[in-house]
Amino acid sequence: MSDLDVVILAAGKGTRMYSDIPKVLHPLAGQPLLAHVISAARALASRRIVVVVGHGGESVRDRFEAPDIEFVRQEPQLGTGHAVQLALPLLDSSMTLVLYGDVPLIEAATLDRLTTTGTDLALLTLELDEPHGYGRIVRDRAGKIVRIVEEKDASAQEKSIREINTGLLAASTPRLRQWLGDIGNDNKQKELYLTDITALAVSDQATLAAVAPDQYFEVLGVNSKAQLARLERIYQWEHAQKFMQQGVTIVGPARIDVRGTLSCGRDVTIDVGCVFEGHVVLGDRVSIGANCVIRESHIGPDSNILPFSHIDDAVMGTGCRIGPYARLRPGNRLANDVRVGNFVEIKASQMGNGSKANHLSYLGDCRIGSKVNIGAGTITCNYDGANKYQTIIEDDVFIGSDTQLVAPVTIGAGGTIGAGSTITRDTPPAELTVSRSKQVTVSGWRRPVKGKRK
Ligand code: UD1
Ligand code: CA
Repeated sequence: MSDLDVVILAAGKGTRMYSDIPKVLHPLAGQPLLAHVISAARALASRRIVVVVGHGGESVRDRFEAPDIEFVRQEPQLGTGHAVQLALPLLDSSMTLVLYGDVPLIEAATLDRLTTTGTDLALLTLELDEPHGYGRIVRDRAGKIVRIVEEKDASAQEKSIREINTGLLAASTPRLRQWLGDIGNDNKQKELYLTDITALAVSDQATLAAVAPDQYFEVLGVNSKAQLARLERIYQWEHAQKFMQQGVTIVGPARIDVRGTLSCGRDVTIDVGCVFEGHVVLGDRVSIGANCVIRESHIGPDSNILPFSHIDDAVMGTGCRIGPYARLRPGNRLANDVRVGNFVEIKASQMGNGSKANHLSYLGDCRIGSKVNIGAGTITCNYDGANKYQTIIEDDVFIGSDTQLVAPVTIGAGGTIGAGSTITRDTPPAELTVSRSKQVTVSGWRRPVKGKRK
């Protein structure tokens, strides 16, 4: 654990999101903005994380309650300096790092450099071609930092400075305490500016450093839905690059969304429009067709997921072929070489090696052995309106098309069920079982015709 506390500023209203949800709870890559910032802070092994919340603070606290996180409420919000002042009583490490809850792409590597300059105050700054709106880093002729001036307080000359303050900084905690005691609100916005500690540090002859982020996007903030979408695309693009560097074929790196952790074996191919949620593992040579949604699943080597399939909490072995248009609801365990075709819905079921359900079926709460063939239109009636029951289909069974299996029921090994049957009792192994009325032909029958109304 490092001798470091982190303060995350998250009290801003987020007016421009036009939302009832606190800004830092809006998701990026499936996680609230604040979760990304907290992960970066945790990667530094900080001692304590203090989150300064404002409007909607309770929901932020509910979402992030953890032993290493403290919450401080800032109301009213009198500026960034005021926000850090409120966190001061909770800080006891020798260094404090200030982050923003709405700057989610910040990376631990950059923060690591920011917190190891050995200076009393280290500012994260960046040269921008369009610095409008940001605080500017004012330096003297020798290039030494003098102060930070906010856009609204800046002279025309200061506005031409291209080095901007990202707002993220690291400071010696005792010094920070002292400087924050000395700031005032004599400025255009009548706010307590955290940035004013810079001039105080200079007049104190404290040591200062400016550090640049590894990549510009790490310091982009979210103030609107458009900025949120922009950051989402940056995040996804960057992750797609990492996968491609590892050898994954991503057909459209601008058209993939990973909302969690995806891990891929060798020679994996992912077509366009796929969404991965939670923890997903794709084995060697897996291919994922276009427009699939896969969450919390483990897909074995050489498996092929065809387009428009939806897979949730599934574990499958090698060489499976799923889809197109398959729906695997939670809890399925498929062995090797299993086939699940179009418009097949499966829930909480096991399928053994080489078993197939190729068309139009509902299989719920099933234990299906190996080499079973489930005909088109097979339905397990697993629910009586109150309770759910299991259907057991033993090895080498052939279920004819349009069969209903009323659970609880067991189909004995090697048995065949004739098409169109409604099976309500266990069936014996290696026999044909049929349950349907005999086919009759009614001779002389005529189709009804549209008649005159009497
Ligand atoms: C601040 C910096 C500015 C920098 C810019 C980068 C100050 C005075 N200015 O500007 O130099 O270029 O960030 O985006 O610090 N917040 C609180 N409580 C408050 C005010 C803000 O928690 O009372 C939080 C916000 O939720 C946000 C962050 O602090 O996460 C920054 O606030 P924001 O208003 O966006 O920053 P600016 O004042 O525009
Ligand atoms: Ca801002």
